[in-house]
Amino acid sequence: MNTPVKRRRYAVGNWKMNGTSRDLNQIARIGQAAKERNALTVLCLPSTLLDRARGHGVWLGGQDCHEHERGAHTGDVSAEMLTDSGATHVILGHSERRVLHGECNATVARKARSAWDVGLIVIICIGETEAQFRSGITLDILHAQIAGSVPPGASPANTIIAYEPVWSIGTGLTPGPRDIASIHKSIRSVLKTGLGREDFSILYGGSLTADNAAGIFALPDVDGGLVGGASLSADDFLPVMRAVSQQGECA
Ligand code: PGA
Repeated sequence: MNTPVKRRRYAVGNWKMNGTSRDLNQIARIGQAAKERNALTVLCLPSTLLDRARGHGVWLGGQDCHEHERGAHTGDVSAEMLTDSGATHVILGHSERRVLHGECNATVARKARSAWDVGLIVIICIGETEAQFRSGITLDILHAQIAGSVPPGASPANTIIAYEPVWSIGTGLTPGPRDIASIHKSIRSVLKTGLGREDFSILYGGSLTADNAAGIFALPDVDGGLVGGASLSADDFLPVMRAVSQQGECA
């Protein structure tokens, strides 16, 4: 029987294909603020910035990794390359990877195993499209994504789940609070049934801003956020980090 651990709250920034050395000062400001807060802050940066972002007081993550350890995969980055550059976390199965790079659940699961092999904590993204949301099949989609892309062996120590409705990413739209709360509750119960643990950190992602973060993070079963656009500057991200840490410890 697994001993339940206290869930941890996270503010995770996903910089996507943004950021050069000019932005290191933003990372320094975010890192300084992270030291003063009790929420865990992770910045998932372009691989080119990881090494230079070390030592700023913020946990670092990649945005994808290859499923193999090494080899003839031009342009790809292995999990070990990420740890070697200072990463402790990696986002896997983001909808932009699933849609624009044709990644399926099985690929995400293989990537998760390869990330675990080098000690990375994986942040596995799941989420439905707008059409699926409107058709009322959100939970079916999410349950299938969990079954297919979160491999056996996932535990709160090596895996974080991020619920990101595809139609919410970068659009300014979010599901209503009742939907977010009931979807997160359902994700937690599916994780318990499938993996025997319900103490995973489950993040919400999609159009989080300083204005809506506190309300969303206060919902039950929401353990923080995965933030795209609003993580690119310290001015925008600091209020989101503050909203996570204001929630205190998880129940
Ligand atoms: P957004 O992106 O916050 O810009 O909507 C979130 C994400 O894609 O992780």
